[in-house]
Amino acid sequence: MTTNRFCEITHELQHLSKLSEQCARIDPALYAKYDVKRGLRDINGKGVLVGLTEISDVCSTKMIDGKLRPADGELYYRGYNVKDIIDGTSENSHFGFEECTYLLLFGKLPARTELTEFTKMLSEYRTLPTSFVRDIIMKAPSKDMMNTLARSVLTLYSYDDLADDISLPNVLRQCLQLISLFPLLSVYGYQAYKHYHDGASLFIHPPKAEYSTAENILHILRPDSQFTPLEAKLLDTALILHMEHGGGNNSTFTTHLVSSSGTDTYSVIAASLGSLKGPKHGGANIKVVRMFEDMKENLSDWSDEEEISRYLRALLHKEAFDHAGLIYGMGHAVYSLSDPRARIFRSFVEKLSAEKGYEKEFALYDAVSRLAPKIIADERQIYKGVSPNVDFYSGFAYSMLGLPVELYTPIFAIARIAGWSAHRLEEVAINGKIMRPAYKNIGEHKEYIPMEKR
Ligand SMILES: CC(C)(COP(=O)(O)OP(=O)(O)OC[C@H]1O[C@@H](n2cnc3c(N)ncnc32)[C@H](O)[C@@H]1OP(=O)(O)O)[C@@H](O)C(=O)NCCC(=O)NCCS
Repeated sequence: MTTNRFCEITHELQHLSKLSEQCARIDPALYAKYDVKRGLRDINGKGVLVGLTEISDVCSTKMIDGKLRPADGELYYRGYNVKDIIDGTSENSHFGFEECTYLLLFGKLPARTELTEFTKMLSEYRTLPTSFVRDIIMKAPSKDMMNTLARSVLTLYSYDDLADDISLPNVLRQCLQLISLFPLLSVYGYQAYKHYHDGASLFIHPPKAEYSTAENILHILRPDSQFTPLEAKLLDTALILHMEHGGGNNSTFTTHLVSSSGTDTYSVIAASLGSLKGPKHGGANIKVVRMFEDMKENLSDWSDEEEISRYLRALLHKEAFDHAGLIYGMGHAVYSLSDPRARIFRSFVEKLSAEKGYEKEFALYDAVSRLAPKIIADERQIYKGVSPNVDFYSGFAYSMLGLPVELYTPIFAIARIAGWSAHRLEEVAINGKIMRPAYKNIGEHKEYIPMEKR
């Protein structure tokens, strides 16, 4: 029971919510009758085509013997395979987030001098308006960092003299500033929350101009600012893997949808953050870690595959964990056989777990990754196959890096703001039509009843 009387669910509210529920029942058969693409997907799970983009390509099928068949997933940023990009950063031992941001925004891989100039520009923009931390971030800190982040983004509007100017150079400037500021807004929001809610010591480290985005996150997060090169590299790889995923994912589609109304950058990005926060989208990484915590508490033997399977079935039957009926970290709207981001993460997580002594946890993750797809396929109608997604391993990787759970989804946002920015610029540049799909009314038209006759 909540102690805040404004949060209380009174009998009156329960009665009214029953009324809402009764008038919100739509016979599922009608969706087929009117050929409604539920979730904007066709019966095979393929998304309805609503736009064209050159920013990235999410591939889940291959043409084999003249037929399109499910294949291991591949992800391309501006035509370059993300796996090759990550291999390239390892070979040249440079950080890749800034390089990929340049690639996504400007369509080409930067030459060394271009990257140096661009990185310098990002670090110059990494400065919050005077007193923003004191006046905005420290005030009424939220327990959810995505909420904090969205509030901060909306508030930045008031500090921008050209907030409503949607000319391309101005939108680019706003996007670059947000890309630079997201680590500060997220981590300082977390520090404020830890201080005011948990009584932890408050420290606000200013960012360092010579640090990459990944290094700065670790520097401003940790009280002693210490981190190893391997930790920074891993976080950089995680950022690259989360930066962009086509125009159709829920938060990027939100970027296009809200941009198409002609509104300002802060409104668009706050809306995209709201979408990413959802547990079926970016919020899944927290759910995965919490689901595994619950699993570990409830299993008597982590290596007993029958016991694991029973727990997974209980999840699908809404009898375990959050009773949502989902196995978090599994499945994807586009990928079928595999999510390339999960494949890359898996190899890092395997190495890191061996180094840090988490082999038993890794074995449990491995067992779930093999068992869950079969169990979901038994229990649900699956058209294209289910496999571990990017969120399956990311939370585990972050926990081994000692990152707090509250920052898992904001780290996704710190990366994805680059993709949202590229899509916002694309939408603004093509000056597309305002998006306006249709909803068919299936209710009746009725005669108005005067008050005294109801
Ligand atoms: C990501 C997700 C929303 C995609 O859903 P989708 O596009 O409907 O995927 P599919 O078409 O393959 O799903 C077919 C059916 O299997 C179900 N399904 C898919 N993944 C599932 C999962 N992990 N747990 C339980 N059921 C799942 C779907 O709900 C759907 O059933 P429905 O038609 O009764 O709604 C879904 O897989 C999911 O909720 N996963 C868990 C949350 C998660 O990890 N999200 C992060 C995504 S990167």
